[in-house]
Amino acid sequence: MHKVTISSTGEEFSLPHNAHLSDAAELQLAGLIFGCRAGACGICAIEVVAGGGNLSVPEDSETDFLSFLGYEQRPVRLACQCKLQGDVTIRQL
Ligand code: FES
Repeated sequence: MHKVTISSTGEEFSLPHNAHLSDAAELQLAGLIFGCRAGACGICAIEVVAGGGNLSVPEDSETDFLSFLGYEQRPVRLACQCKLQGDVTIRQL
């Protein structure tokens, strides 16, 4: 199990290794918003405050879309495209 912390509220959740963040009902109840769940709308963009290396490596399509959205200089991921591989602290944008 790995810990996901929501930086704005301090809420913490334990999720299994390789859990998709978009499948975690706990995170949705904590306020994370999802739309397409396919990496195409950007509504699930999160800032990775800590532990960015503990999320699955982004596909080129995710990196390209985040760049299109103007996030290339920030530690931002699409939560619907991330699998949890360690503890992270995140903040929804
Ligand atoms: S929910 Fe649309 S990009 Fe993640």
